[in-house]
Amino acid sequence: MRVCRDCCCGTESKHPGVDHDGLVARLEVGAGAHARVLRSACLLACDESNVVVVTPSPAGRRAGARPVWLRAVLDDVTVDAISAWVGLGGPGVATVPSALEVRVFAPSGLALEWAPV
Ligand code: FES
Repeated sequence: MRVCRDCCCGTESKHPGVDHDGLVARLEVGAGAHARVLRSACLLACDESNVVVVTPSPAGRRAGARPVWLRAVLDDVTVDAISAWVGLGGPGVATVPSALEVRVFAPSGLALEWAPV
């Protein structure tokens, strides 16, 4: 998965009081061996920050899944929901947890072109 960290995502100026480094560390521990957590430059979806893109596993891709873009990943509850989902197989294997449904968004065509994931 990709965790955006650039001009808006992960910044104190846009999201004061959020432990951004702690959230990434929590996600890395939670994802464990199920997914790699990569930091990304701006994904051109700053209005939705902090953005995380959950990429399908090989099994998910074989099932036809596409990367799932999540907005406002700013707290432990959301991070833990992502970890749990990835642990269950993620996109294409397990349904999006209800806690994450409100955070799913469709990136712009420009974002997809700029940051193919
Ligand atoms: S800084 Fe994350 S989308 Fe721009």
